[in-house]
Amino acid sequence: MTTSTTALRNLAIEVLKENDQGTYTVPTKGLYPFQWNWDSCLTALGQAHFDEARAWAEIETLFEHQWPDGMVPHIVFHVWSDGYFPGPDVWDTKRPTATSGITQPAVAGFAVRRLFERASDRKLAEEKVRVLLPKIDKWHRWFYRYRDPRSEGLVAILHPWESGRDNSVDWDEAFERVPTDGIAAYTRRDTQHADPAHRPTKAQYDRYLWLVEKFRSLNWDNSKLHDASPFQVIDPGFNAILIRACADLAELADSIGEPEIAAENRARAERGIAALEALWSDDHGLYLCKDRTTGRLIDSASLGGLLPAFAEVPHERAAAIARTIENWSSQVEYVVPSQDPSDPRFEPKRYWRGPVWLVTNYMIADGLAARGEMAVADLIARSSLRLITRSGFAEYYDPITAEPCGGGRFTWTAAMVLEFLSAERE
Ligand code: DGY
Repeated sequence: MTTSTTALRNLAIEVLKENDQGTYTVPTKGLYPFQWNWDSCLTALGQAHFDEARAWAEIETLFEHQWPDGMVPHIVFHVWSDGYFPGPDVWDTKRPTATSGITQPAVAGFAVRRLFERASDRKLAEEKVRVLLPKIDKWHRWFYRYRDPRSEGLVAILHPWESGRDNSVDWDEAFERVPTDGIAAYTRRDTQHADPAHRPTKAQYDRYLWLVEKFRSLNWDNSKLHDASPFQVIDPGFNAILIRACADLAELADSIGEPEIAAENRARAERGIAALEALWSDDHGLYLCKDRTTGRLIDSASLGGLLPAFAEVPHERAAAIARTIENWSSQVEYVVPSQDPSDPRFEPKRYWRGPVWLVTNYMIADGLAARGEMAVADLIARSSLRLITRSGFAEYYDPITAEPCGGGRFTWTAAMVLEFLSAERE
């Protein structure tokens, strides 16, 4: 390792330790003071580079708060804090430890397989996988049961926060059908921690809250939420992450002798890959979201449509995605922007409407490297490390100027840096 690589690695570890609360890690102090689902699973990959036992604990803690129906919530409110809105009282999910009532991208299956295969403490890894495997399988089953009630092979998100790409252009059209009348008065806290110009708008927050209040009025009963929601979107990125997690869980199940779990998850992944095909757009060179309430594809070329490179989509699709990224990269300094830079709705500093995120970079690069698209995978890895060297461990970055945006000293950004550095070493 060169000195600068060692220094970068040490800085990343410092961020991870600083945000560590013992058995879970906050995404960043202030803006996000609790445990977030996909943040934690990706964070564990970073932690494993210096403390394997701590990495397992991160994911174990999350799954301790799995709901009886199988859902793994997107936030676990371990402690009281008035620094975040909407807090536990707004969600009112009546769980033993307060949680939100929606979920997030299912990266756990992927993360756990990666931790397991790299583990130097094999005994510990096998012990942990035996406990986590049925829980992750139960979560996957939950997805297809409650979010694909008519067995189409793809699941819908019912709230933009579930996608993790909260304010993506992808949701604009469907969001027009979400009302705002009757919501309780509220004060946002996010805009006190981060520049409001980098965050979602008030019009979007009103709709985020309308959906929360609607689902709360149904007592968070997942057998009712899907059909009652005016927002039901099939996000190719969200599905691709789930499909990859199913495929990874199948491999993991095989390696510890759980053939039933393996077969079920392999079947889910295969059906998902086949169903994704209907979302492909030749015009944009990526997959599009589908609005389940209208049955129409949503004309928005976003990161969500590139993420299927993370799953085992057909070879020509992965290659076309790589070409699309090359095209976008000719328009910005750093890849991968979260929206097509030539789209008039592209906003380089506003959360998921343009900025670059290291976690999505990592997943896309991982998938493309596995499909032999090394040049674009390298371009993404180099872009990611250049951003860090230039602008520190931010939540996300302006793809044109590298300006650090959103929260600072960000956990999953640091975790991804450790991953990119170790891949570079290999
Ligand atoms: C937020 O509060 O911005 C989160 O992304 C919602 O989970």
